[in-house]
Amino acid sequence: MADVQNYIDANQQRFIEELFHFLRIPSISTDDEYKKDVHKAAEFIVGKLNELGFSKVQIHPTQGHPIVYGEYLHAGNNKPTVLIYGHYDVQPPDPVELWDNPPFEPTVKDNKVYARGSADDKGQLYIHIKSIESILKTNGELPVNVKFILEGEEEIGSTHLVPFIKEHKNLLSCDMVLISDTAMFAQDVPSITYGLRGLTYMEILLTGPNRDLHSGVYGGAVDNPANVLCEIIAKLRGEDGRILIPGFYDKVKPLTDEEKEEYRRLPFDESEYEKDLGIAEVKGEKGYFTLERASARPSLDVNGLWSGYQGQGAKTVLPAKAGAKVSMRLVPDQDPKEIAQLFRDYVKKLAPKTVTVEIVEHHGGHPSVVDINFYGIQAAAEAFEHVYGKKPLFSREGGSIPIVADFQKILGVDSILMGFSLDSDAIHSPNEHFSLTDFVRGIKTSAHFMQVLNKYVPEKA
Ligand code: BES
Ligand code: MN
Ligand code: MN
Repeated sequence: MADVQNYIDANQQRFIEELFHFLRIPSISTDDEYKKDVHKAAEFIVGKLNELGFSKVQIHPTQGHPIVYGEYLHAGNNKPTVLIYGHYDVQPPDPVELWDNPPFEPTVKDNKVYARGSADDKGQLYIHIKSIESILKTNGELPVNVKFILEGEEEIGSTHLVPFIKEHKNLLSCDMVLISDTAMFAQDVPSITYGLRGLTYMEILLTGPNRDLHSGVYGGAVDNPANVLCEIIAKLRGEDGRILIPGFYDKVKPLTDEEKEEYRRLPFDESEYEKDLGIAEVKGEKGYFTLERASARPSLDVNGLWSGYQGQGAKTVLPAKAGAKVSMRLVPDQDPKEIAQLFRDYVKKLAPKTVTVEIVEHHGGHPSVVDINFYGIQAAAEAFEHVYGKKPLFSREGGSIPIVADFQKILGVDSILMGFSLDSDAIHSPNEHFSLTDFVRGIKTSAHFMQVLNKYVPEKA
């Protein structure tokens, strides 16, 4: 095993340069202008899997962006099969002017690479491709069977991946999914994520009068959709931070006392957290503490809000239209479709006759929790400890990777969420970055995981 780790040390510079090639491809899935670049990113991975001697390496086209598959199944039927999932699409870099360096020209500062997709998720998925290279180049074989499924639509809701998994259940059959698309608990504090929130994303569009009006001539006599929108939004949450949509909490599973205890033991410094964000104090649902609020409790946030005059100076106008985008993060066992319906019913009920309401549902996804006693997770814990010199913590995260629930439902397998980024890596924001130290430690952790996994397989009864 030391040989593999030496190979990684000896080749790390080349691994980093290869990653930079990957990061230079602007594979922005939400913007049609970049469709060819998303495809180029898929081709990049295909090239790398072919170099490793993988079989069935293929770009599977979909109605949207393609899915990349490849497999290396030479360990034998009695060895576990690990399905590695990741996404090669990225968020748009906007607002571009807030980047210190161009988002698709990887730049190194403090041994961190700055580029869109560096942490989410190209840098993290590339970890596994290089860990497998390192084992193969050192030993000539892999101790377990490996399959890759890499998609180009994670940031836009994995629309075509779910039907693909349903149609290719045999091809994708496995004992576990391995995913690096989450964060560590803190710098030098490795962790395994065992829960993720789900998502319901809605848009409210209000229309009042048939045209924008002079706010002096009509103000006070005609209801203003912008005012109405604020009133509706104000009724979505109470003073105590509770979400007021009737039925919203019906399926929320409360944390057990044990889980609460575990949560309280996590090394979390609230004033550091506040300082890092530049806020005077945290705020959230009454009766819960910050970590819990941000990962094990549901939340509701306005993500976008528009109406009326946005230009310089003042314009006296009573706008004809107003709109808002609202996201809700969900926890087990909330169902994203049910929550969308509850939201629709409530907002429609709140809206007065003076406006017409249109409600649009955007992509969403199910929340998930995985069993931390699963043998694959135990093997991952050993791998983290080997590389980082300390046992990983177990924590839940507030972000969403809805496909984890789909893997559970369709393939019947749990995911191992082996994340190497940090919350401070600015994913989805300007100046996204990823530590190159953790890129290399990630490759070592992934390789060690593959090498110790067999020893954790429970004996068949
Ligand atoms: N990798 C993130 C999810 C994530 C971020 C998990 C931080 C844990 C910690 C993923 O790429 C993402 O951004 N997911 C979207 C959801 C999707 C349905 C668009 C999200 O969470 O907003
Ligand atoms: Mn991601
Ligand atoms: Mn993301």
